[in-house]
Amino acid sequence: MAHDAGELFAFAGGSLIDDAFEITNVAVSPHRQRQGVARRLLARLAGDAHALGATSMMLEVDERNEAARSLYAQLGFVEEGQRAGYYRHADQRSDAILMRTLLPLRDTYTPQLFGGDAGVCAVDGTQKRLDAMRRVPGDMHVQRADGSGAAVLAQGKVSTRELPGDDVSMAAASADDEHVLNDETAAIGVRESAAHEHPYIPASLCVHTNGLEEMDSQERVDIEARLAHRRPLILAVETSCDETAIAIIDKNNQLLANVVATQIDFHARFGGVVPEIASRKHTEALVGVYNEALMQAAAHLELPRFDGRLLDAVSVTQGPGLVGALVVGMAFAKGVAFAHQLPLIGVNHLEGHLFANLFEEPSLQPPFVASLVSGGHTMLVHVRQWHDYVVMGSTLDDAVGEAFDKVAKALGLGYPGGPIISKLAASGDDTAIDFPRAMLHSHDYRFSLSGLKTAVMNYIHQEEQAGRAINVPNLCASFQAAVVDVQVAKAVAAVEETGVDYFCAGGGVAANPVLRARLEEALSKRGVHVVLPPLSACTDNAAMIALVAKYLFERGETIDFAADSTAYMPLACAGDKSAGC
Ligand code: KG4
Ligand code: ZN
Repeated sequence: MAHDAGELFAFAGGSLIDDAFEITNVAVSPHRQRQGVARRLLARLAGDAHALGATSMMLEVDERNEAARSLYAQLGFVEEGQRAGYYRHADQRSDAILMRTLLPLRDTYTPQLFGGDAGVCAVDGTQKRLDAMRRVPGDMHVQRADGSGAAVLAQGKVSTRELPGDDVSMAAASADDEHVLNDETAAIGVRESAAHEHPYIPASLCVHTNGLEEMDSQERVDIEARLAHRRPLILAVETSCDETAIAIIDKNNQLLANVVATQIDFHARFGGVVPEIASRKHTEALVGVYNEALMQAAAHLELPRFDGRLLDAVSVTQGPGLVGALVVGMAFAKGVAFAHQLPLIGVNHLEGHLFANLFEEPSLQPPFVASLVSGGHTMLVHVRQWHDYVVMGSTLDDAVGEAFDKVAKALGLGYPGGPIISKLAASGDDTAIDFPRAMLHSHDYRFSLSGLKTAVMNYIHQEEQAGRAINVPNLCASFQAAVVDVQVAKAVAAVEETGVDYFCAGGGVAANPVLRARLEEALSKRGVHVVLPPLSACTDNAAMIALVAKYLFERGETIDFAADSTAYMPLACAGDKSAGC
């Protein structure tokens, strides 16, 4: 975005798909055209895209737009195709010209953006300086409110590209220098003085400018006094799948911040989570999510600012999950912990789903039985004590959430399948189709979902072959009933066998209204108290990770900086670091 005195006058954007950046928008308000604004925005966009791993950049332009075509050509774009008649005008149609350029742009802009000698931020061992931002033309404030710039820093890949100068704005540059420098520094979020103190602090920490370092000692004492009764304050990072989440919790399990940035839109068109996309999106989102969490904490505590040095510990989901996604969160958490000399705590994601029940019932105490049902897991767990788990049984094949997602995909309903299927099921007849209840009478706690999924696929195929329209609500309701019947029957058996008085649930599928109602009905009439997490705490979030982290912090269970993320992390090992774990 380009803005001046609060007026937004231009923006450019696009999306990164694999290593190609597709520009979808370049807009400059009429009174700022022909001042080189678009050129500079594009150069900045190219720099950011390149830093995020793009090797080429493409766009489409109306063949009639000579000025734009010539600008793109000057920047190094070459025409590589056409879409005939793509643009519709009052009189006729015109072609879209597809143009592409390799990155970095061929223009040799000097690497001034991070040159000079003011603040120093160590990135990949290279010291990039900020001072020369003074040379950024005076009428141009490129904001990175979406965190994209900060994400670039966090990745350790910094664009060294200067905005290309242009005559008009260079003339205005000096008058506004200081102002622009401040804006840029704040927008990109590099904390200059901290970087001075630690010339090699991890890039992920050069992200926030809360100005605690500028605080006078009295202010600091006041803040400490206000936080004393809340300590420990623990930050939690969750990136095991497709949600980038950060939360901050206090001693009383009160959430000072709870931010979840979902990537669902980026995976939806593939019908499921694409691991590589998940990792990249976590990298892009983490710094923004972190900054948002700090701001939420400041607002919650009614403090002028809040930053990492006010924390007591940093925790992170260590596993199980997508390993590429987990390592992004782990690297970030290690960075924050290292910079502020804080202990690091590794949390088992599944234990987080169990602890999420505390948000519903803060006094909840084991023993209880819990059903963990998500996109990756389906299991019944005997929680004998916090941190002492016996997995009574789990799925032999697909997870319940996975079955919902696959059925939704087969019906063309999109991703994730659970919410849409349960919504459609509400208006369907759950006895319409008799789908199999696999393992219902297996007299154990194992589950199998792949047979049910196949039965649904076969049904769809058979109806299509016969030329019959599928009643989607009936199909959804019947499929859901088959899942829920088995879940409830095994939950009842597990409760009877263990003799517990409490039953809990966790994971995305625990948000399913029919499953919730049926568990409640079947178990409460047997005198069992059913506790279910609030809907927002069923799907992945960092608040639940923070709850576990606080428990571990009190027990002194930390991990060291050599610890790795792990895709496979059995729940039974949560409290047992020996016995084959
Ligand atoms: O716990 P979660 O957010 O991520 C994993 O750890 O897997 O669970 C996501 C899963 C998805 O498969 C989604 O389809 C399912 O939870 N889900 C539901 C519902 N809401 C989410 N399944 C059934 N009914 C729902 N209402
Ligand atoms: Zn989960």
